[in-house]
Amino acid sequence: MGLRQLTLNASDSVLAPTLRIKELEERMDSMHTALICALNQLLDLKDLNTGFHSTRLAEWAVRVAQEMGMDESSLHNLEVAALLHDIGKMGIPDSILQKPARLTADEYDVMKKHPEYGWGAIRLFPTMERASLFILHHHEGYDGKGYPAGLRGSEIPVGSRIVSVIDSFDAMVSSRPYRKGLPFEEAMRRLKDASGTQFDPAVVQCFTRIARPEMENVFAATGTTSAVVI
Ligand SMILES: [Fe+2]
Repeated sequence: MGLRQLTLNASDSVLAPTLRIKELEERMDSMHTALICALNQLLDLKDLNTGFHSTRLAEWAVRVAQEMGMDESSLHNLEVAALLHDIGKMGIPDSILQKPARLTADEYDVMKKHPEYGWGAIRLFPTMERASLFILHHHEGYDGKGYPAGLRGSEIPVGSRIVSVIDSFDAMVSSRPYRKGLPFEEAMRRLKDASGTQFDPAVVQCFTRIARPEMENVFAATGTTSAVVI
């Protein structure tokens, strides 16, 4: 065997595992993405409004995270959490989820279980542990008056603090069969009013900077226009 052949064989044996690892990583990535899309579709089947709402939240999440200078891996976890934040609602009975009137105290207690249900399922996937924590705490209040754990301030994972703001904003401006969405300025006023109590002031400040210029982009990215929803 010539020297050239030996060199080729040596480089082959180094390259082969590298290529194999890359192929496996790509396969893992596409499985991860497919899983998230499948879960999102199930969420869509359960409640049609939630589908677009969650997709817009993922779009907002990326923009807020970039504005706040989050690193790439936190940004990805936040995007997943935004998309699947209400996945636990699949465990809530339709009689409560679809109730056209105000919930009773007991019904509200059942509804408040959805972050834990979501966390319980999503944490089982090894790549989504951090995202599952963002999901678990997305209804905590900055002043400690939220649920499920009553965490306050920086005790609440930053991803949950971001989801909390964009979730409330999108819910406020979105029209529902039983009510019209709030105008943009009114929704922003309510966010600022609750800054420091329900919401993290730093997140509200950041969202305030990008909300107006990014509004149409977020709706365009989800295949809708704000005129349909607002
Ligand atoms: Fe929620």
